[in-house]
Amino acid sequence: MDIKQRIANLTEIINQANYDYHTMDKPSISDQQYDQYLKELISLESKYPEYKLEDSPTEKIGGTILSGFEKVTHSVPMMSLSNVFNKDELTQFDERIRKVVRDFSYVTELKIDGLAVSLTYEKGLFVRAATRGNGVIGEDVTKNVKTIKSLPLRLTEPVDIEVRGEIYMPHKSFNQVNEQRLSQDEALFANPRNAAAGTIRQLDSKVVASRNLDLFIYTIVDAAHVVNTQKEALEYLIKLGFKVNPNFQLVFGIGALINQIEDYDRLRKSLSYDTDGVVIKVNEFELYSTIGYTSKFPKWATAYKFQAEQVETILKDITFQIGRTGVVTPVAELEPVLVSGSTVARATLHNEDYILAKDIRVGDTVLVHKAGEIIPEVIEVIKSRRTHQQPFKMIETCPVCGEQVTRKPGEADHYCSNPSCPGRNINTLIHFSSRAAMDIDTLGERVVETFHELGYLNTISDIYLLKNFSTELKELPGFGEKKVENLLYAIENSKLQSFDKLIFGLGIKHIGAKVAKVLVKNYPSMNLLKKATLEELNSIPDIGEMIAQSIVSYFADPHHQALIEQLEQLGLNMVYEKGEQIEHPFNNKTIVLTGKLEIFTRDQASDLIEKLGGKISSSVSSKTDFVVAGEDAGSKLKKANELGVKVIDEQTFKGMVDGLY
Ligand code: IVH
Repeated sequence: MDIKQRIANLTEIINQANYDYHTMDKPSISDQQYDQYLKELISLESKYPEYKLEDSPTEKIGGTILSGFEKVTHSVPMMSLSNVFNKDELTQFDERIRKVVRDFSYVTELKIDGLAVSLTYEKGLFVRAATRGNGVIGEDVTKNVKTIKSLPLRLTEPVDIEVRGEIYMPHKSFNQVNEQRLSQDEALFANPRNAAAGTIRQLDSKVVASRNLDLFIYTIVDAAHVVNTQKEALEYLIKLGFKVNPNFQLVFGIGALINQIEDYDRLRKSLSYDTDGVVIKVNEFELYSTIGYTSKFPKWATAYKFQAEQVETILKDITFQIGRTGVVTPVAELEPVLVSGSTVARATLHNEDYILAKDIRVGDTVLVHKAGEIIPEVIEVIKSRRTHQQPFKMIETCPVCGEQVTRKPGEADHYCSNPSCPGRNINTLIHFSSRAAMDIDTLGERVVETFHELGYLNTISDIYLLKNFSTELKELPGFGEKKVENLLYAIENSKLQSFDKLIFGLGIKHIGAKVAKVLVKNYPSMNLLKKATLEELNSIPDIGEMIAQSIVSYFADPHHQALIEQLEQLGLNMVYEKGEQIEHPFNNKTIVLTGKLEIFTRDQASDLIEKLGGKISSSVSSKTDFVVAGEDAGSKLKKANELGVKVIDEQTFKGMVDGLY
């Protein structure tokens, strides 16, 4: 057989084996045989690259290192779904549809908890994958998606088609990834969804390949041109070779729908991947235009969200937190437990009424869950476990300043009556310097408290003026030369922190880390953001009325305007740099520079690597991850080659840091 033919045969055999194993879950050849074929194909392709086929399975191994992700405008926007949380809301959804159409069925599907992706095929060949992004513009993640074993690189028919589905990380892969991260002292992923989302934005597709993501396809774009119903669409997707979640069903009427949801809720606990609900879609495409759309969702579909997982634990104590507005919030200090994929040790108890209504007492056994799968909350007390716990009594004086705590008439919250309660400022400062915000790691809670007590810190901008007091600070007990220098260095460094972290750090009401990211993408500089109008903000998906209002009032306040101006003069980064959120291949890696660099100076290259989270080392060892080799590189390059350390030339290095300097 000639080489060209052999390559074509191997391509087909391996693609079929991938399909049997990863899509049908029915291995058709032994692992050994598979490895042998793959090895042969890799070797033939490297010798005869001209014969490599477009659907070659060797693409699944990864190997490309990108410098960033190109933007892709979706041919049809990727909408999201409305949610219903109980049977009443589901019944209302059904009734709204029944008002406009009759005689229809539903298709129910599991709602896979991962991230949406859109795949384009031309003449049956996979050409592009894009993330959802903001629904209109996403990012090109083709290289990374190609590493997903169940993704068909060639369909069974030579069609031009765009399909959408959910990339997810199965539990097995998630546990493996976290075990590995633990052994390398890296931060763990909180849950499989975050792990999948973080992985798909990796720049090194080899890392993606190693993390074993998977993919379920659930929709065809412009499906009505191909088939008449969602059920037919799913069946056609299966026929084309896609992995479709097998648990879809056709249902007639609300009664059957409700019964089915209960079955799904039982089923999902036995699955090897996370699901967070059931998607309910009207089956008949011809009814879609009559039922219609809102600006964000189709009205012919919704997501029934499962009740979050509930876990028992002990309430060890109730403490009180003073918010930036002076509001006093009781907090449950819990025996740490794992809830829906992450450890929960504290939970809000909202206010006095919440605690009294549920009769929550220190020492109780309580049930906790994550509201909206995010915020830990105590749902109820298991009263049968109660022994001699004392009823809760709201505090009367502020635990920080000792002033009176009062409840405003008509409100559920208590407030500290001292407008300059240190608790308020301290919280603002602690939040600002926290890891999730400006990440000034040496400026922790204790240090903020001490400096605040001594009058060095009152407002955020004072943080950047601490350097004027370095002599005094060095004389403080427990500080000293080195500690203060480290602190001042961390503070100076934080000026380069990304713009969204700064926005989050300011502590604007309702602006969490996620919303901050959305904001900076839409307003890439402070100058633009501070001029944002209510109307503009409201038109951004993911920004609701309350958030929009909060931003506008924040920037309208002269105190805040003065603070921003001061921070600007102090040199804080107030522009959003594209690409800075990306998990970069240099992050946490040890890199050696050797030889003569021509594009960068040594200092520039080192700065860039450090900015991307890498460490520079002067000698090559087995712990080295990359060697950047310039002209005339000598012994270090030799050693790298001997040890099998990855070597990149300056041009490649430039590609990897492009757009980041
Ligand atoms: S259909 C018009 N079907 O849920 C929206 N979505 O909240 C089309 N998802 O962005 C989505 N499983 O990421 C659909 N079987 C399924 C799904 C599913 C998970 C995700 C998807 C979507 C989000 C909507």
